[in-house]
Amino acid sequence: MSDFAELHYNGEVIKLPVIEGTENEKALDISKLRGQSGLITIDPGYKNTGSTKSAITFLDGEKGILRYRGYPIEQLAEKSSFLEVAYLIIYGELPSKEDLARWEKDITYHTLIHEDFRTLLEGFPSNAHPMGVLSSLVTSLTAFYPESLDPVRSADEVRMNIVRLLAKLPTLAAWAYKNEIGQPLVYPLNSLDYGGNFLRMMFATPAEDFRADPVVTTSLNKLLILHAEHEQNCSTSTVRIVGSSHASLYASVSAGINALWGPLHGGANQAVIEMLEAIREDGGDTAKYLAKAKDKDDPFRLMGFGHRVYKNFDPRARIIKKAADDVLSKLGVNDPILEIAKHLEEAALNDPYFVERKLYPNVDFYSGIIYRALGIPTNMFTVMFALGRLPGWIGQWKEMRENNEPIGRPRQVYTGENERDYVDMAKR
Ligand code: ACO
Repeated sequence: MSDFAELHYNGEVIKLPVIEGTENEKALDISKLRGQSGLITIDPGYKNTGSTKSAITFLDGEKGILRYRGYPIEQLAEKSSFLEVAYLIIYGELPSKEDLARWEKDITYHTLIHEDFRTLLEGFPSNAHPMGVLSSLVTSLTAFYPESLDPVRSADEVRMNIVRLLAKLPTLAAWAYKNEIGQPLVYPLNSLDYGGNFLRMMFATPAEDFRADPVVTTSLNKLLILHAEHEQNCSTSTVRIVGSSHASLYASVSAGINALWGPLHGGANQAVIEMLEAIREDGGDTAKYLAKAKDKDDPFRLMGFGHRVYKNFDPRARIIKKAADDVLSKLGVNDPILEIAKHLEEAALNDPYFVERKLYPNVDFYSGIIYRALGIPTNMFTVMFALGRLPGWIGQWKEMRENNEPIGRPRQVYTGENERDYVDMAKR
């Protein structure tokens, strides 16, 4: 097979190199095209644009394959812990027993937040959405750790910035929640594991301590792993592009949190539950909502359906659907919206509109149902996604810096006015 593709333009033949990834994915390298021909390429939403070469995640949207560093998501979700997966994503290999012990110890040790964060939190209105608070607090870490502003000074400092972020995000997330509900902040308890510690900071009060049920921490571990990394999605691309200007890790991840917030991305898990609740309150008529989703004059979309890259099934959705059934039965929760979700899924999967457009439930269709069963309030769902996605953002940021990638700066095709003279106010 040829290593070049030919572009015939204006009587010239331009040779474009074809590059190939380790899973035989092929791409046209157009990085020199403008110099060769004066042409740029246009691809709104980057639907067919590879922004980088990455060794972290392989996914095949047609076959429903997702692997972190070569390991299938099904095996990791079944056998691994979230911190082990975080190490794998960030450093490329599964940790040895000693590496994992040190990693867990370091992340457990750095969970405490500087007391001045309390003052920062007090500045937010009590009903502030925790995603906005979280992204602000993560940026604020740069003020408390100014050495992080020079993010690649030494490998040890990079590691320390990474450890601090992984250690502190659950504390910041739980504090954002406590601020919203007006309860006193709960400090981390380092004898607990990552998930158990987070849930205690969410649910303990001065009146009553809290320990999560092992069924709950096991499910949380699985959910965090399933969300941990997903190659060049909207928030991860944001982290890479912000980091490409040599902004710090904390500033880059804060931008990623904001990108994740939108309802077309991580905000979908909250939107799914709100949609399912609205359907229930409206009498549970799923057919009515399917019709609305298909009506082009109606802005309503079936939240939790469709995905930019998965066009047959989302492998994470399969694992989560089963986990939702397990958790609800183990906890003895009977959630009527689970039934509505199942009806909706079944009806959509048999409806030509959804079949033709290859619209299937995505990871967020069922994750909200589990979060609800675990007692997580709806407006914290996207924060849960952020906790899970953190290793992916860090791994991608680190890879981008280590590869010395250039600053991200797309071009455009200008469609505005041609040059014209300024018109004096009296003549307008
Ligand atoms: N409900 C109804 N119709 C839909 C839906 C949906 N959820 N998703 C896509 N469509 C339709 C579009 O109207 C379009 O129809 P057309 O061809 O007749 O114009 C077609 O399917 C293709 O849709 P696009 O928006 O072009 O697909 P894209 O790949 O750009 O968008 C996205 C993917 C944003 C996920 C979209 O499917 C969506 O909005 N889904 C609902 C939100 C959601 O669940 N987001 C979570 C994504 S997963 C994640 O971030 C973890």
